[in-house]
Amino acid sequence: MKPLSINPQVLNVKESATLAINQQVKTLRKEGNEIYHFGFGQSPFPVPALIQKALQENSDKKDYLPTQGLPELLTAISQFYGKEFGYEFTPDLVCIGPGSKELIFQIVYLLEGPLLIPAPSWVSYGPQAAIRGKKIVPILTKRENGYRLQAEELDKICHQYGEIQKILIFNNPNNPAGSCHTESEIKEIAEICRAYHVIAICDEIYALINYSGHPHYSIAHYYPEGSVVTGGLSKAFSAGGYRLGIIMIPPTMDHVLQALKSLISETFSAVSTPIQHAALTAFDQYEDLRMEIEKCTTIHQFTGEYLHQRFLNMGLNCPKPEGGFYLFPDFNKYSQVLKARGIITGNQLTNTILKEANVALLPASDFYLPATNLGVRVASVDYDGEKLLKEFPGIENMTPEAIQTLFPNLVKGCDHLENFLQKL
Ligand SMILES: Cc1ncc(COP(=O)(O)O)c(C=O)c1O
Repeated sequence: MKPLSINPQVLNVKESATLAINQQVKTLRKEGNEIYHFGFGQSPFPVPALIQKALQENSDKKDYLPTQGLPELLTAISQFYGKEFGYEFTPDLVCIGPGSKELIFQIVYLLEGPLLIPAPSWVSYGPQAAIRGKKIVPILTKRENGYRLQAEELDKICHQYGEIQKILIFNNPNNPAGSCHTESEIKEIAEICRAYHVIAICDEIYALINYSGHPHYSIAHYYPEGSVVTGGLSKAFSAGGYRLGIIMIPPTMDHVLQALKSLISETFSAVSTPIQHAALTAFDQYEDLRMEIEKCTTIHQFTGEYLHQRFLNMGLNCPKPEGGFYLFPDFNKYSQVLKARGIITGNQLTNTILKEANVALLPASDFYLPATNLGVRVASVDYDGEKLLKEFPGIENMTPEAIQTLFPNLVKGCDHLENFLQKL
């Protein structure tokens, strides 16, 4: 058979770095290696029982749903986001998709113009834009600012690109740095977006996992006419595998919504009907779930703070996480000793750490930073979430013994990293 030609834009896309490291860790563990998995960000907690029950009870629902989604679910989402975050998206402005990843892909696919990506940012935005042949413009953020995008950084890039339509993808709380923007930062970013007519795609998949001590602030609060918001079941509701995402589009972008509905109708048609019923329970009965979700967030806070302290003790630079379940420490202070061992790139660093310390990490280059940047993305979720929900005694009651018992892999992973650094 003649070699088949493949769309070159797809051919150049490698497997998603997060899924690839997860596969690699699974294989290594199967071979009997003890690996500390700081590489993959999946919620470790069980899907709340109420949501599981709704899924079971609706397993007989087999009819296709409207493209936009189950009408009661659209209403429940509109009300939930209104109450919880102060948004004014009416049900007709909400669409359901098989994960927010797919919805971000579709909205980026249908909008013209370059994609501005604060760096570091989630691994998939760039490849998704590349599949569409879209130009990607990383905007370098600074460690001193906790890798939070600053208005002047955005302003500079917007100025360079002049009048053409531009899209900003903005993840808050942020993967990989665990940062949450302050209200004044958000206001200033919103002003720049308005001044340059930037379309803001606000990826708020971690909005409910906010332990910053301040409310969740969004560009959509200060620039509603130009902001699209995405979310879903995957993180706070621990149901990544259910594949249910949400997108909300402002009334000012009605033609975008119509185009998106057409795109959905010609691609995945609608999300699985039983899953949409399960999601209805999640949003409609949120008050019954609130305590459980908040407990999960407190555990994320504890692990974030524990890892942060361990990293600082090792001499790594690391902004304190405030949301989600990630941290972004860097090994810059060790760059000379690492160089002496032939380790110059982040990729070499994470490969060596996996081989010699059994800790799985992702390099900064997967997050739009230069290859030589020695930052790594750490996911703080390598523990038994079910056990934790039952046994977590509260942050104030955690003792070294309890940490050892409840989070053995986080402790051992840090011990191994520390050892690795001491031996350099
Ligand atoms: C920043 C960010 N956005 C979006 C997603 C996609 O989530 P889902 O497609 O499961 O809704 C993820 C998942 O890892 C993420 O980390």
